[in-house]
This record gives sequence, C-alpha cells and structure tokens, in this order.
Amino acid sequence: MLGNSILNKAKHSHNTDEWYTDYKTVKEEVSHYAKHFEGKVVFCNCDDPYESAFAKYFLKYFNILKLKKLICTSYKGSRLVENLNIFDNNNIKANNKSAYVLIVKNISADFEEPIRDEEVLSYLNEKGNVKKLNGDGDFRSEECIKYLKESDIVVTNPPFSKFTILFSLLVKYNKKYLLIGNQNAITYKNVFPLIKKGKAWIGYRFGDMSFKVPNDTPPRKTRFWIDDNGQKWRSLGNAMWLTNLDNERKHKDLILTSFYCPKKHPKYDNYDAINVSKVAEIPMNYTGIMGVPITFLKYHNEDQFEIIGEANHGSDNEFDLFKPIVKGKETFKRILIKNKKIVEKN
Ligand SMILES: C[S@@+](CC[C@H](N)C(=O)[O-])C[C@H]1O[C@@H](n2cnc3c(N)ncnc32)[C@H](O)[C@@H]1O
Repeated sequence: MLGNSILNKAKHSHNTDEWYTDYKTVKEEVSHYAKHFEGKVVFCNCDDPYESAFAKYFLKYFNILKLKKLICTSYKGSRLVENLNIFDNNNIKANNKSAYVLIVKNISADFEEPIRDEEVLSYLNEKGNVKKLNGDGDFRSEECIKYLKESDIVVTNPPFSKFTILFSLLVKYNKKYLLIGNQNAITYKNVFPLIKKGKAWIGYRFGDMSFKVPNDTPPRKTRFWIDDNGQKWRSLGNAMWLTNLDNERKHKDLILTSFYCPKKHPKYDNYDAINVSKVAEIPMNYTGIMGVPITFLKYHNEDQFEIIGEANHGSDNEFDLFKPIVKGKETFKRILIKNKKIVEKN
C-alpha cells in the first residue's frame, strides 16, 4: 500500500501533461510572430477554451492579429478549473467530463486594443460560441483532424508525453506551428532531422518557464510555489518554444569572442571534432566540426553555422553521429556545428 502511494506520488510529480501555460508566457512569445497571423486560421488543439491562456490570448488579440479564424479544442478530463459557472451550447454546465470546441470567426470590437478579460468571459459565456465535441477531443480524433486540416498555424503547449505524436501530425499535414516543449524533444528522432535541415528552430524563451498546476499537485522543495490566489505553480528549467515560423532571432549572428585553444577545446576520442563546453567558448577561428551544448540552438543562425549532426548516443537518429567521449570520459550530449563564415585553409 505504502509502496504504491509513493509510486503514484512520484508519477504525479513528474506529470508535466497537466502543466498549464501562463498568459504572460504566451503573450511574450507570440508577439514576436504577429505578422504571420494575418488572415490565418489558428488552431490550439490541446486547449480548453475556458481555461487556456492560448485561447485567451488569441481571443483578446483576434482583431489586432487580423486572424481569419480561431479554433480551440479541449480534451476530456482537462483539469485546471474544475468549478466553472459557464454553460455550453446545450445549456449544460461546462465540466471536465466533456470536451469542447471554440470557433471564432469575428469579434465585434476595437481593432487597435486587445479586448478586456470581461469581454473574453462574456464571449465564452455567449450561447453557441463554445460547443461540446462529439468525442473526447483527442488531437488525433477524426473531428480534431478535420479542424487541423482547415488550420494554418497550430499554437499550443501539448502534453509533453505526446509531443512527438503531435509533432509528427503537424509535419504530416504540413502545418506551421509554435509549440512549447521540453528541450529533450530536440533530440527526438522526428524532431532533430528537421532542426538540422533548417526546417524547424527554437523560438525566443529557452530555459525557465513557469506553469500553473492542478490543485492536487503535491508540494516539493524546489520549483514549486503557491501564489496569493492559492494557485499552485511549478517551473521547468529546460522548456522551449519550437517553431517553423520565421523569427528575427534566427537571423542574428552569435558574437564570438573566444579563440581556439587545444587545451580548452580537446578533440573527441572517437570523432574528428572538438568539444566546446560553453556557448561563450565557441572559437571564432576553428574551421572544423565543433561539439557545442544544446543551448547553442538558442543562438543558431543558419547563415553563420551549419548543423552537421548531434553527438548523443550515436544511434538516436540518422544524424546522431557518435557518443561524445573525451579522454575516456563520456561528456554531455552535443550539437555538431561548423562555422560557415570562415574557410578551411589548404
Ligand atoms: C501541458 S497541458 C497544457 C494545456 C494548455 N495547452 C496550456 O498551455 O495551458 C496539456 C493539455 O493537453 C490535454 N491533452 C492530453 N492528451 C491530449 C490529447 N491526446 N489530445 C488533446 N489534448 C490532450 C491535457 O488534458 C492538458 O489539458
């Protein structure tokens, strides 16, 4: 019995599937991509219209972004807000035993200002704006795929455990996306090849991100707090935004200040490349392949560097070239890059 409850607790405390994005996090990132949204159909497919900050943001900024349509679908069992006093299109109190869809084609409001929170609420409350789905709202379900097909850009924070499934679906249907994920997803076999080929890249926020978590989340010493409203929060040190929407960040050169030094930049035992421990130590005068920390991707500009592959287990995907070992010791996983702006001598 005791063993079981410890096990459940452990399982729950690592369950990032029910971590909800803060409004500020959404606003801060999406505002970098405003020009991409004009005339577009946005689909938030892991987003309860009643509680998602993505739904709230796109409702508030619908006119400013000049969206054509916003679709948000929730998943049965979504559980941040459990005592809503809102009624769906069938006049049944909204509850988390059902899945919902919000479809917005037009918001009659100012085109200069985001709409107020009260207006968002009354919009959600208005009969017919939020409808009950027939199924459970799984993004793989037939009715959600129908919405996916008619959408241009998918913007969401999906359950991390299903990140790779959603990502494959977006690639399959050739969609634009702006997604929150765990940095571990970078080396997934369906993600890394696209990063290497310059078809997917990192957004702006890369590292710390705070998320609202359900009420029954057990407290812990670190990366957990309760705010003045009693809302529980957790934070993740290795979160990221992954996208295929162009952004300004990826066109800026990384300023290099270090020089190659064989002592500081030793060669791998098993591959002809040097190991660079920190992004700040990437040498400006090395022409060969360099293994750099994953955080490099936060600064990657494909006009400045070529991504050759990764050094992780040596087998994760076709571009995972070797297990990084320096002087007999295995090191952290690395991204393998080559400086495009300096030419190899002889
Ligand atoms: C990490 S939470 C984020 C929720 C929301 N996108 C946000 O950012 O606040 C992931 C959400 O996806 C929902 N979910 C889990 N499996 C799903 C699936 N197969 N299809 C659609 N949504 C799913 C969960 O119920 C949860 O609400």
